[in-house]
Amino acid sequence: MRNPSSIMRPVVCALALVTLAGCKPMDDALVFVFGRSMRDQRSFDPYENTRPAPVGSVPFAAGNYPAADGEVNIGQPEGVYIPPFTQVDLGVPGVGAPVIQGLVNPTDPTDPESLARGEQLYLRYCVVCHGPTGVGTGAYIAALHPVLPAYNLSGPIVAAYSDAYIYAMMRVGRGLMPEYGSRLSHFDRWHVVNYVRQLQTQAGN
Ligand code: HEC
Repeated sequence: MRNPSSIMRPVVCALALVTLAGCKPMDDALVFVFGRSMRDQRSFDPYENTRPAPVGSVPFAAGNYPAADGEVNIGQPEGVYIPPFTQVDLGVPGVGAPVIQGLVNPTDPTDPESLARGEQLYLRYCVVCHGPTGVGTGAYIAALHPVLPAYNLSGPIVAAYSDAYIYAMMRVGRGLMPEYGSRLSHFDRWHVVNYVRQLQTQAGN
């Protein structure tokens, strides 16, 4: 009798061949026969055409920072009223419309925990465009988007902006900058503001 493994080997090889061939060549053959392929779909590829979250939806940012000890904060904090506003309310750069002027930073800007959280989020969300020190020239995509160095987060212009304006910009986006309100929760946005302030101090502004 033949050794079972010697029978299995060609079977496994044949199966592997069929499976591999199924990937591209078989797909091409199907396109040849039927004129269309399941590969071409009207679905989005990863990172293609990202759309802002619907207005008024609750951000469900991963790993939210708790509002207080023992509290779990998912998205907007309960009991804290956050007025709705849009890009239009950003108004004058650095100041914003009255609705934005009324926003108060509820966190302690010197709290090391807040700064650590801010840094973590800055490195996750902002660094690609604004660079590790906030200077757009250090941004990873500066070569592709030469406009970015003009928006230097650690320079004197943004240092003169109010906390509330920076918070608001993150929430609704402005011009070429996408919104991060759907990814950064209320408290997390303030932690990033605190971290941006720290970058400005480090840059001497
Ligand atoms: C996809 C690239 C991109 C990312 C990521 C990004 N920004 Fe921006 N940012 C921009 C662009 C572009 C501008 C200029 C906006 C405009 O056209 O008005 C800008 C402008 C700003 C400004 C105003 C600067 C000025 O001089 O008026 C602030 C503040 C800011 N960004 C903060 C942030 C923060 C904080 C994050 C992280 C949560 C972030 N940005 C993430 C692209 C980005």
